[in-house]
Amino acid sequence: RNQMPVFPEFRKHRHLVPMLSLDNAFDEQELRKWEDRNARISEEVRCAGYCLEVKIDGAAVNLTYENGVFVTGATRGNGRVGEEITNNLRTIKALPLKLTGSHWPRLMEVRGEVYFSKKAFSALNRRREVEGKPTFANPRNAAAGSLRQLDPAETASRGLGIFCFQVAPIEGPFAPTTQHEALEQLTAWGFPVEPNHRTVADLEEAEHQVELLESKLPELDYDADGVVVKVNPLSLQEELGTVGGREPRWAIARKFAPEVAVTRLIRIVVNVGRTGALTPAAILEPVEIGGVTVSNATLHNADLIEAKDIREGDRVEVTRAGEVIPQVLGPVRSKRPPGLKPWRMPSACPVCGAGVLRPPGEVASYCPNTRCPGRIHESVFHFASREAMDIRGLGYERIRQLLDAHLIKDVADLYELEVEDLVRLEGFAQKSAEQLVQAIKQSRSRPLSALIHGLGIPHVGAQVARLLAVRYHTMDELMTAEVEEIARTEGVGETIAGAVKAYLDANSELVHRLAAHGVNMIEPVTQTGGSLEGQTFVLTGTLETMSRKGAADAIEAAGGKVSSSVSSRTTVVVAGSDPGSKLEKAKKLGVTVINEEELLRLLKRKA
Ligand code: IVH
Repeated sequence: RNQMPVFPEFRKHRHLVPMLSLDNAFDEQELRKWEDRNARISEEVRCAGYCLEVKIDGAAVNLTYENGVFVTGATRGNGRVGEEITNNLRTIKALPLKLTGSHWPRLMEVRGEVYFSKKAFSALNRRREVEGKPTFANPRNAAAGSLRQLDPAETASRGLGIFCFQVAPIEGPFAPTTQHEALEQLTAWGFPVEPNHRTVADLEEAEHQVELLESKLPELDYDADGVVVKVNPLSLQEELGTVGGREPRWAIARKFAPEVAVTRLIRIVVNVGRTGALTPAAILEPVEIGGVTVSNATLHNADLIEAKDIREGDRVEVTRAGEVIPQVLGPVRSKRPPGLKPWRMPSACPVCGAGVLRPPGEVASYCPNTRCPGRIHESVFHFASREAMDIRGLGYERIRQLLDAHLIKDVADLYELEVEDLVRLEGFAQKSAEQLVQAIKQSRSRPLSALIHGLGIPHVGAQVARLLAVRYHTMDELMTAEVEEIARTEGVGETIAGAVKAYLDANSELVHRLAAHGVNMIEPVTQTGGSLEGQTFVLTGTLETMSRKGAADAIEAAGGKVSSSVSSRTTVVVAGSDPGSKLEKAKKLGVTVINEEELLRLLKRKA
């Protein structure tokens, strides 16, 4: 069974200049908001002009050229480190191995998008069908997969294309002063550049061109999902900079309207979530939307179904915007067959049969039975998930087996499972049983924040769980805290605090059982590698949204140090209202001073 992995390991490649991602704008209004934000940094953006480029939907690559020669190529990876795929890239005919013209920087990185032409994509899938291999869902997946072939000859046979759109000069001369000139320079050096790029004077013209380009899509031989709008002067790009080093402020992806398909809604099913919330979902006759086959979609809630009058058996419009879950937009009334009945949320839970509740003012209906097998199934699944207790090998099916065999009734029971219990179940061998028991055991040392998240308290996601864990350190302290006090935690309002208190009061026994099984109930104070590592903070004055202690804890949790007096070793002074002499001293020593808002921003930034 152990075949070679589909994707072999490639060597890691660190990009000299990080590869950024793009923020999206879905309409003209969002484009205007983007310009307004930029205008606050520099009014100039309003009259500097924009460069528009068709946004190809493929795989991003980084090409390094030294003295005009292609030396290394890599995937984007996480934006800082990708995988080295030089030999596979060399097989792309359009990629210049040696530049033409002259005056190139001695060292530069060129960014581009490797793509499948529509023709090459369908040819590839036809070939794979004949060979009995799985077909690719869309050209983007096919491009990414093809670049990561072990055998460059296989990559070569697939007929990939590439368009380049960005230069990061690192050493030596680089003449262009605008993005548009950069594209012309790329063309002169022999790089393939998507031919539909153009400059416009302002956003009104940009929006008009987006429409024109969208209407040209069917004529293009490659998939495009929008237009990249870039501030044209490179100097202005530099001035605008990036957001957290991840996204440039000077560019945005103006996405095209998502593709919509019409198909038959076979059935509406109701799923029970871990909080008991009942969510209706659509089972659809499979239909292709934007290159992906869709057979189910979310319907959100009963109100929406009622408001749109969506009925089982209807023909419905379905859309898939980008990566998000497919959605049913609404029925096509003119195609409704006779005799369809309006849909109603069932009055009994589809899993346990308990009477469904709908709290006044809420759109969701709930199964109120905390012992509902459907709810327990979801809550165990959530507890074991990566961001929570991270129990590898405890997937949906296995949880079902454990529940069916009455081996568990709740998450605390997991810690009593023994290898002998598991080997009796279908699909478990000695080894896999041992591995699962071991994984469960290991999960006991997860930090308190992971546990709080894993408990599945309504309104408490990973982020809120972390805020609570950092503030309270131990489960005991959180459990004995008053609601009003919890509500004063930065980022935690009254609703969340109420939900936390109610949950912990109702489930104190469960928490105590977890503790008795040795599950860690403490948040480690310092985490190395945090975003504030190596920095020493001094707090002065009164902070508005957090206590001194809360702020200090949060800084330490992010890897920073907190000291009580300002010295030359202090990196940052955080000044609240009525700051004391520490602020004076900081100014004298030239230490950076920030306010509370800036501290919160620093804390939110990921390491
Ligand atoms: S600019 C420097 N320009 O879209 C800002 N990206 O969603 C980032 N893409 O990872 C890239 N065509 O792979 C830029 N003309 C174009 C593009 C383009 C396609 C891809 C690129 C990027 C992704 C961001």
